[in-house]
Amino acid sequence: MCGIVGYVGGREAQPILIDSMKRLEYRGYDSCGIALVEGGVRVYKDAVRVGKLERDLPRDPKGRMGIGHTRWATHGKPSRVNAHPHLDCSGRIAVVHNGVIGNFMSLREKLEAEGHVFQSETDTEVLPHLVEKYYRGDLEEAVMGALRDIRGSYAFIVMEVDSPLLVAAKKESPLILGVGDREYFVASDVPAVLDHTDRVVYLEDDDIVRLSPLEIKITNNGQAVTRQEHAIPWGVEDAQKGGYEHFMLKEIHEQPKVIQNALKGHISALEPVMNLDVHPERDIDNILLVACGTSYHAALVGRYVIEHLARIPVRVEVASEFNYGDWVLGKTWAIGITQSGETADTLNALRRAGKRGCGTLAITNVVGSSVTRIADQVFYMGAGPEIGVPATKSFLAQLMAFYLLALSLKATDTHSLEGLIADLRLLPGMVQNILDREDEFAECGRYLVDYNEMFLVGRGINYPVVLEGALKLQEVAYIHASGYAAGELKHGPFALLTPRCPVIAVAARDNTYDTLMANIKEIKARESPVIALAEEGDRDIEKYVDRVVRVPAVNPLFSPVVNSVALQLIAYYAARGRDCDIDMPRNLAKSVTVE
Ligand code: G6P
Repeated sequence: MCGIVGYVGGREAQPILIDSMKRLEYRGYDSCGIALVEGGVRVYKDAVRVGKLERDLPRDPKGRMGIGHTRWATHGKPSRVNAHPHLDCSGRIAVVHNGVIGNFMSLREKLEAEGHVFQSETDTEVLPHLVEKYYRGDLEEAVMGALRDIRGSYAFIVMEVDSPLLVAAKKESPLILGVGDREYFVASDVPAVLDHTDRVVYLEDDDIVRLSPLEIKITNNGQAVTRQEHAIPWGVEDAQKGGYEHFMLKEIHEQPKVIQNALKGHISALEPVMNLDVHPERDIDNILLVACGTSYHAALVGRYVIEHLARIPVRVEVASEFNYGDWVLGKTWAIGITQSGETADTLNALRRAGKRGCGTLAITNVVGSSVTRIADQVFYMGAGPEIGVPATKSFLAQLMAFYLLALSLKATDTHSLEGLIADLRLLPGMVQNILDREDEFAECGRYLVDYNEMFLVGRGINYPVVLEGALKLQEVAYIHASGYAAGELKHGPFALLTPRCPVIAVAARDNTYDTLMANIKEIKARESPVIALAEEGDRDIEKYVDRVVRVPAVNPLFSPVVNSVALQLIAYYAARGRDCDIDMPRNLAKSVTVE
């Protein structure tokens, strides 16, 4: 969590830092701050969003070097004093940090006994004090001294008033360099620097970097190292709203393209041939999927798809639960699914599975992210930058990854593969059809505005789809929505059904349809308003429910794609009607790097 950025070069740092921090706000947005060097170190920070900090800044603060931070609180509530940057006692050293210093309590006690005075409740504040303690005129050496004392995960940037350079260090939290023309950037993620350069270096764990306007020097365990420079294939416009009111809506609309790209990248245009580049490297008898949040829901769909197509047993675990259980693993291929590639629980789960002898695969969206260094193999979902905190297009890209993976694991049977690929190729058009009828979903979203609690029910492969739909309604519309397997509702939640508790039922035309209709009747008998998400042409459903929202008819195996897009739009418009902060919902962050 938290986004950090540093700039050193010939231009005024303040507007550069502020713009970069706006692009990193998805990582946390409960407070923010910057520090500039101009005569002394000047810090401007508060428990506000970056836009507000910018408005409150004195006119034209000067300084051609600076650091900035957007926070998602872990140690100490969001407040001005807990916001970064943090300073040492002399006010000459400033630090911004992403991660957790595990042993900060004992370090703090020791430093306090040595006379250091602390201002905040954060773990981060030990860093400037440690750098102060070890500073003998060389900032990098002081940072190395501090690093010897700390345990935990970190990406941090340090600035000292008399040193014309920034020093940054990283372990288990992401950090990239942006290489400009006589100017350098260091940041938590690529979008922060794209306004200025498309040349990026992904740093490795234990790297320490000195950035001056003339050069960058990277060392790792005392040895000078070079890290490869990458040209980023997407531009700053990919990380902008492009005329949409919210990133969430823009990203929902990008989904036909996301599906097309997934197909183009991995399926031959001329014949039914898969080209996936990832496969189990050893003999396996089962697959383990580990993930969090929306990625976990994609994994649940993945289980249905892989078991159905490839006939390999699949087990799906919430990563945070997998990490503390005494589980039995066999000849297991462990797959971690993580959009950001930085989710602490998912990283730990993959490490754990690897230690237990499992081959590992990461399905991620972010090139060079931490998970790519943990897993034996990587499959990039290629959704492009997702900025809105609610995951939308990355979920679709994950579904596509599972379809492609399952087809590649499937015993070759050209005839049925041909049919499935033909059905897959219909999906971009079907999703576009939903987007073209956006008003119908918006109307359904607006209908939900006055309700504070609701259920979403589905069966089979659409059960995880309703879990994801409920998560979207919770996080963006702040509606207490629960996703349920339709058959389970009568085992307790029925007690909550009233006319004030609507139910959305996802009615796919598969082997679960008739039983779902029976479940809908049971729900209607308890007077809850029922909305069905039903295929075009399903006329029967109108007899059973209060409202019908139509999705295109598809192969039931691929129905999660269309149903998810429909539910995303419904949640988005419910959130708009309830005046919620859609791209940055309260208390959340896009990248969760703490357990
Ligand atoms: C956070 C985000 C969710 C996301 C989850 C897992 O909670 O707000 O949208 O699904 O983390 O993230 P990952 O990057 O591992 O997919």
